[in-house]
Amino acid sequence: MTNSHSNISARYDGQGRFIPPHAKPLTGREGFIKRTWTFLRNPIEGFGPMAYNQPIVSVPNFGKKLHVITDPEGMMAVLAKEADKFTKTAIDARILGPATKEGLLSVHGEQWKRQRKSVAPLFRKRHMEDLAPLITQVLQSFCEKVDAERELDLNAAMAELTFDVLAKALLGNPKGLDKDRLKFATRNVVTSAGTLRPDDLIPWPRWVPRPILPKGAAALRRLKRAADALLAERAKHPVEDDLISLLIAAKDPKTGEGLSPREQRDNIIGFFIAGHETTALTLTWALYLVGSHQETAERIRREVLSVCGKDFVRYGDMSSLPFTQAVIDETMRLYPPAPMLNRECHEETEIHGRKIEAGDTFLLCNYVMHRTERLWENPLTFDPDRFLRDPTLKSKGSAFMPFGAGPRICVGAAFATMEALMALATLVRDYEIELPEGCYPRPLMTVTLRPEGGVPARLIRIR
Ligand code: HEM
Repeated sequence: MTNSHSNISARYDGQGRFIPPHAKPLTGREGFIKRTWTFLRNPIEGFGPMAYNQPIVSVPNFGKKLHVITDPEGMMAVLAKEADKFTKTAIDARILGPATKEGLLSVHGEQWKRQRKSVAPLFRKRHMEDLAPLITQVLQSFCEKVDAERELDLNAAMAELTFDVLAKALLGNPKGLDKDRLKFATRNVVTSAGTLRPDDLIPWPRWVPRPILPKGAAALRRLKRAADALLAERAKHPVEDDLISLLIAAKDPKTGEGLSPREQRDNIIGFFIAGHETTALTLTWALYLVGSHQETAERIRREVLSVCGKDFVRYGDMSSLPFTQAVIDETMRLYPPAPMLNRECHEETEIHGRKIEAGDTFLLCNYVMHRTERLWENPLTFDPDRFLRDPTLKSKGSAFMPFGAGPRICVGAAFATMEALMALATLVRDYEIELPEGCYPRPLMTVTLRPEGGVPARLIRIR
């Protein structure tokens, strides 16, 4: 069977296992222009057999070297063991800097250490338990609005859902806040100013500004104004139970030092940017996979019904939903929402026996790592059970790194996992996901990994 969206044709392997859309690797015979053009259009399609078969591939890059890493040992060396010798690159600073220059996502060195110590406690288990009921509330009102008659775009619907969850968890219910405007501004920042463009890959000096369209610039200004207004409101009317209040009160446990107003603002924006699109994409791809694979849908339904009945999933239920969790893990293996991390080296070192010099850059491609034959059995097939058969697939230093690794591992991972599990369990139990015949969206990297053109679907209530 062929498909119109993607550049691959097989959907089932010889044993009838489902092969969802994936980037077709380069053959290795393409010339420089074709390779570069393919990479610029969709970076995850720009890798050939060398990247899939070797742990490190190094190429010349404007007088330095660019190293592509696709194995856990190399990833752990850069992200964890030798993390002090690396920072994020100018590409990250160019894309994220205008929105969140002083936030955890962008800062380095001592400033990062201080912020991380202050911010990490916000996402500890104790707070997660408090936040779970807010996710239930948002899910409930999402379900009330779903209209089976109307086709929706799963990606847009999930972005709406995860934005509302984050807004509720972060902001509570502040007086006078126009959440729709905030949502609109955040979506605009993510989809215009926060999208990777070919010119981002040119090593501009740091002082060269990144031009963005007036629409993106206006959205960014609105977002900053909204975050400033929220902080001012909280200063006047302190409340205790949302993440913003915790952020304002956050202190470095050793020094007692808190975050400056600019750092607070940039972290709020950073949470919105880093937190809603990534989780929305996990849910979009998971619903696509479940909608394409009836047997998986039925197994999730049986599991959720046996644990929660017709109730919403509670925090305490989560450890009793191993299959639903495995579907989320398999989704993030196949479609890691952040498919490529980058780093720049600042001190000479050696990785995989290769000399690394200051100024060399790294692409840490977890998309490729999650799909190489060297590390995974039948890497292209959708097989959630692999995570149940072998729990070590998720252990520290394994070839599964959707949240990164080392000291800068995603600070919101526990929150994202809880939200994705609660939402997937509820939506699959209560709805049939009807996809149009032949729906096979191409994964397209634009910083995050989106289904090109979205995923049209109907959610038909069955319970
Ligand atoms: C499925 C959802 C998510 C995925 C796949 C994801 C992925 C990642 C990855 C791979 C990193 C490491 C980046 C690097 O090392 O260069 C990261 C960092 C980060 N994430 Fe997430 N993320 C998710 C959800 C969230 C949520 C819900 C929040 C907050 C509400 C969040 C906030 C952050 C922040 C602030 C950082 C920077 C941490 C630091 O540098 O210390 N993320 N995320």
